[in-house]
Amino acid sequence: MTILITGANRGIGKGLADGWRQAGADVIATARSEPGMESLDVAEPDSILALGKRLDGRPVSTLVCNAGILLDRHEQLDNGYPAELWEKHFQVNVTGVFLTVQALLPNLRLALANGNAPKIAIISSKLGSQASASGGRYIYRASKAAALNLGRNLAMDLREHGIAVGIYHPGWVATDMGGSQAEVSVAQSVDGLRRQIDDLTLAETGCFKAWNGEDLPF
Ligand SMILES: NC(=O)c1ccc[n+]([C@@H]2O[C@H](COP(=O)([O-])OP(=O)(O)OC[C@H]3O[C@@H](n4cnc5c(N)ncnc54)[C@H](OP(=O)(O)O)[C@@H]3O)[C@@H](O)[C@H]2O)c1
Repeated sequence: MTILITGANRGIGKGLADGWRQAGADVIATARSEPGMESLDVAEPDSILALGKRLDGRPVSTLVCNAGILLDRHEQLDNGYPAELWEKHFQVNVTGVFLTVQALLPNLRLALANGNAPKIAIISSKLGSQASASGGRYIYRASKAAALNLGRNLAMDLREHGIAVGIYHPGWVATDMGGSQAEVSVAQSVDGLRRQIDDLTLAETGCFKAWNGEDLPF
């Protein structure tokens, strides 16, 4: 069983990589630029293609699209949220997810051929749910809503290929992104997320769940 995680040099991604390694899994931890880690910048299509080439012929049973950014915390509705910020978020949080999935489809199919049920976990956010539209953070919310939508549609298309897709909210987690006031520790979040992802099967493909197993509204 080989698990590939994007953005695994810090925060939730690092926690997931450490946890799965301790549990005995073969982990491919990727990062933009970190010695000893597989190089992947999800905002750079060439970087994604290069990763796909380096991993040619290697089965990947679980792909975790975790890398993400949140840069619009302090933007003002009247004159903030510039176009460049939209572009930046969508490159990482949406296009980056899609192109990574696309590049690694051959590796997921190889896992299936080797008898390992392949799966894709997309780390979105509750803030991307239409049901928790409490205003603000327009760009981040829209990008996470798009990531959720991507996951739902990938689930439809990949079901017949035997690849399950789950979309997850990690909780409000104490990372650089979540800040020190967050409600959930990295250890709690990654323990829960790993359980949800390990248990994901085709029977619940397209699910949107929180780290603690709670089903979330789309
Ligand atoms: N923390 C929360 O409360 C919370 C809540 C809901 C959802 N989430 C989601 O959970 C995921 C992980 O968040 P986190 O809290 O662990 O955030 P974090 O501590 O800020 O870590 C973000 C990770 O994403 C990587 N990343 C950013 N841009 C990248 C790019 N272009 N290519 C590759 N990697 C890139 C970062 O790498 P660098 O070190 O190179 O920047 C870092 O490893 C994100 O998708 C986030 O939206 C978090």
